[in-house]
Amino acid sequence: MKNIDSRTHIRGESIYLDDIPLLQGTLFGAAFGSPMAHGVITNLDVEDAVRIPGVVQIFTYKDITGINQIGGIIPDEPLFADEHVHFCGMPIAFVVAETDEAARSAVKKIKVDIDPLPVITDPRVAQEKGELIVAPRSFVLGDVDKAWQDCAYVFEGVAETNGQEHLYIETQGAYAIPKESNGIKIYSSTQSPRATQQASCKVTGLLMHQLEVEVIRLGGAFGGKEDQANAWAAMCALSTHVLRRPVKYSLHRIEDMAMTGKRHPYSSDFKIGLNKDLKIIAYETIFYQNAGAAADLSPAVLERTLFHCTNSYFIPHVKAKAYSCRTHLPPNTAFRGFGGPQGMFVIEAAIAKAAECLGVEASVIQKKNLNKTGDEFPYGQKAVSEARECWEKTELVYDVTALKKEVATFNAQNKLYKKGLSFMPVCFGISFTNTMMNQARALVHVFTDGSVSVTTGAIEMGQGVNTKILQVVATVFSISPENVKVQTTSTHKIANTSPSAASATADLNGKATLMACNAIKERLIMVVAEALNVDITAIELKDERVCVNGEQCDWDWKRLVMAAFLKRVNLSEHAHYATPEIHFDKLREKGHPFAYHVYGTAITIVTVDCLRGIYEFDAVKVVHDFGATMNPAIDCGQIEGGIVQGMGWMTMEELIYDKEGKLRSNTLSNYKVPDIYSVPKVIAIDFLQTENDNLAIFRSKAVGEPPLMYGIGAYFALRNAIKSFNPAALIPYSAPMTPEKVLLALYQKKEVTTTHEQAAGHMAIPS
Ligand code: MOS
Repeated sequence: MKNIDSRTHIRGESIYLDDIPLLQGTLFGAAFGSPMAHGVITNLDVEDAVRIPGVVQIFTYKDITGINQIGGIIPDEPLFADEHVHFCGMPIAFVVAETDEAARSAVKKIKVDIDPLPVITDPRVAQEKGELIVAPRSFVLGDVDKAWQDCAYVFEGVAETNGQEHLYIETQGAYAIPKESNGIKIYSSTQSPRATQQASCKVTGLLMHQLEVEVIRLGGAFGGKEDQANAWAAMCALSTHVLRRPVKYSLHRIEDMAMTGKRHPYSSDFKIGLNKDLKIIAYETIFYQNAGAAADLSPAVLERTLFHCTNSYFIPHVKAKAYSCRTHLPPNTAFRGFGGPQGMFVIEAAIAKAAECLGVEASVIQKKNLNKTGDEFPYGQKAVSEARECWEKTELVYDVTALKKEVATFNAQNKLYKKGLSFMPVCFGISFTNTMMNQARALVHVFTDGSVSVTTGAIEMGQGVNTKILQVVATVFSISPENVKVQTTSTHKIANTSPSAASATADLNGKATLMACNAIKERLIMVVAEALNVDITAIELKDERVCVNGEQCDWDWKRLVMAAFLKRVNLSEHAHYATPEIHFDKLREKGHPFAYHVYGTAITIVTVDCLRGIYEFDAVKVVHDFGATMNPAIDCGQIEGGIVQGMGWMTMEELIYDKEGKLRSNTLSNYKVPDIYSVPKVIAIDFLQTENDNLAIFRSKAVGEPPLMYGIGAYFALRNAIKSFNPAALIPYSAPMTPEKVLLALYQKKEVTTTHEQAAGHMAIPS
């Protein structure tokens, strides 16, 4: 089934925040952000700004009617700076005016004096100074300290990944509307209506029943609207609460890029030990996460880095430690993969280093160490593994022997063009790592004309979750998709939602929908069984008909619904689903946090122009563990998008903050994201259909985040291509691998070290 939004998308009829018709009297807001990353405000001058015609009011922390706090996990994030500023772009004031132009002109007239304080942008510096968001976390398996002596080879190094701008096509925004009796309704571009409702209530002082958040759909989010949609909604809510007029704020791209957090940059140390047979015996790593100026979701992201620190491999002795480091960058946040990709890059770098030093292909070490069913992850859960099946199927369906030969032949025949090939296995855990968040609700109404409405906590952000929800309803009742409507997401219809995140939205909300539909279906079957005087087990609903013992009878779906209504049978249901079997003990750092894992293997092939350092990706070929996909079109779309987004992070998206904490890659002209020309010429997707996982909706495994990590293969394919041109190149394990860095590596004569390798003397982990 096609994505149900495709028709309105193509015709430009889909409604996003900016398409909502404005109510008469709507005002427009714009935020004034700090021009400095760290300091004390000595004077805020809004005199000239207030004089701009049309300006209604300029809000600062002094005007807050509730509390000046929007921190989600930790209350460490004021909505507006009071005396201190902690990052460039930190909101200081919010101008509300009759027009958008007036609001933005006024923002330009605001003047602020700030006494500067020292700025930290490097997570290792922050860690040295004790600037941590939370206490460090450690995952331990076996006894790594003892295990080194059993290793024939031990390698150490530093691996670094940069941040990533979300670049959702629809920028952040909110539109607040006053309702009677002090109520407010907010339309928001948020992944988490509950979090947006809660933050807006804290700031205004309203109770949650007075403030509704409704979401139609988002033009992309990728994690960037999991927590960071809240500030703008709270600003609009506050001004609506005070002025009793509708207030809208829709951020310009440049504001959005400057004021919001990104994917967390990480700098990490690794040490890996292997035996003579290239089995990895021991692995130790320290992660330094650049959290930015406030916690936001950083502690949870940090946790997922630890969960994925061994990727698809079984390693008997592991010690992984993670620091969430407070710097003066905008608070970094969720981004597709949620810390997992950062953790996986480090183990892949460690394996690449071992392979390069031992003169073997990385794939030899990778394949030897893939986990098997029953192997223990460092956090205690036992694998139900498809890692080997995926890898072996990849070798088979894409004829890896032939591919390798092609690459070798090409490299032998070409001097100034070289190809590189890499393998990237992925193992990603599905569930929120915070067990409490794994719950969802659905509200299903069957109307007397036989049409069905379903409302869940799921946010449609382009990923196709509404299509999957609709499929659940249509399947259970066996009715045509035209008879089902997925309604907008609202806190007043479905309360206490978890964000649409962690790849788990279709599973959680789909399961709740399944429960609600099944409950109604049971009641309907009872009605017809009674009327026809047959056993309920004889009744089946099929293609909008009622079947008795497999034979169509003269009852159709509509007659059934009407009969139930006349008998005063409840045609509505609100169901609640909580993922069973999962638990995690944070004190011991052990448990069973994931409903299941998604596996996959990607082969990436790149061609590097060794004169210019530029490159093109020939192909990414994937075998992906879909479970039993309920929608191949949507799932393949997620895989293609995830791969390209992951490749962008690894190759071209170069986020740059200067030493003063100012974003230099602040527009789309100096921050390059993949376009149609950077998409690999071939993306091949092969299905590993596995039927094990009943915790996935209809056994169709979650697909949102896992494919992003196939993109990591792009970095290692480039590395291999460079090596075949310049075998002596010792390239730092540092992404993104931009064309500039490729060019440097192609002609580099001796080892280029990262700043951190120099600082740490390359031996950062004491053994
Ligand atoms: Mo997603 S990165 O779990 O919002």
